[in-house]
Amino acid sequence: MLKQQIRDLAHKYAPDTISIRHHLHANPELSYQEFETSAFIQAELKKYGIPFVTMAKTGVVALIEGKNPGKKTIALRADIDALPIQEENQVEYASTKKGIMHACGHDVHTSILLGAARVLNELKTEWEGTIKLIFQPGEERNPGGASLLIKEGVLENPRPEAIFGLHVHPGLATGKLSFREGKVMASADELYFTIRGKGGHAAAPHASADTILIASQLVVALQQIISRNRNPFDPSVLSITSFQGGFTTNVIPSEVKLMGTFRAMDEGWRFKAHELIRRIATDLVTGLGAELDLHIDVGYPSVYNHEGLHVVAKALASEYMGENNVEATELRMGAEDFGYYTQQIPGCFYRLGVMNEAKGITSGVHTPTFNVDENAIETGIGVMAWLGAAAQFPA
Ligand code: NI
Repeated sequence: MLKQQIRDLAHKYAPDTISIRHHLHANPELSYQEFETSAFIQAELKKYGIPFVTMAKTGVVALIEGKNPGKKTIALRADIDALPIQEENQVEYASTKKGIMHACGHDVHTSILLGAARVLNELKTEWEGTIKLIFQPGEERNPGGASLLIKEGVLENPRPEAIFGLHVHPGLATGKLSFREGKVMASADELYFTIRGKGGHAAAPHASADTILIASQLVVALQQIISRNRNPFDPSVLSITSFQGGFTTNVIPSEVKLMGTFRAMDEGWRFKAHELIRRIATDLVTGLGAELDLHIDVGYPSVYNHEGLHVVAKALASEYMGENNVEATELRMGAEDFGYYTQQIPGCFYRLGVMNEAKGITSGVHTPTFNVDENAIETGIGVMAWLGAAAQFPA
């Protein structure tokens, strides 16, 4: 019954939601600068008669109370920011802002959550508890909007028992969803090394500390952290992505800079690895006669889907979509600031298929030709609303 009512309303509001998505897509804003986007979300919520507050400048947090509102609170989260990418799609709703694009589908997440809000609000005499809608800024940039909202109390008053978030998945066909329990996405930390030494004439290396050679050895040594210190059953990546130093053939430079990323699934290993990176780099560089300056910019934690909540979510999704349309999603070394929520309360981050090969919609996220099959929006609205209304957690 409730399921069918949600289905009907998701269908009814899908065209409107697609228009909303077009508006958001045409007017993308970078992380922490989502002022127009935030105002737009607020205006929509006002239209629907849903009360809200703002947080962390551009975040919007709304509450819908159903029957017996104190019984449980479920949070539903959408991220709202765009990326510094020049759009290449030739669509009438293409980005109107040079060099800024919704290339990660956060326009889709935001419109889906607005659609779900409308459905849940209209049916609020049909379900129990309270739904907290979180329109979150700054997913794409450290420190992550989720961490700011949590500091401002987004998980209090009322405290949700569980939180759901979805992400569009360009590798999964429209009409399908995918779930995974436990570890889902990696933590991501940025590494900045500066190796300083006594530069000098390239013909007299004995009179200098060769920062190029030392940095080269450091790149190799760092790989041993992954190959020799990490538990082989625990996925982790360390990539050095930038190596800069020197400007000519006959001078040993006095400074070389390296940059890279470190990713992990296990929070214990993550911080142990930071210590190893620091120790090995310091010992190697100083042992070879240079000096090291290392900055580790600690980014998002890994995303962990609560086992019990995953079971609840997958069962509800199967009920709504049919079991054949609910798949297991692969582990990813990408990062998501949803991990901040899953550190605090049980969470489940799932994926919405948006690929349509027949329509040529296959580009990956963070590319200038990324797009989604908008038929997925009706599915997204329905499933998000259904999870919010029907999830009993703890079961
Ligand atoms: Ni994203």
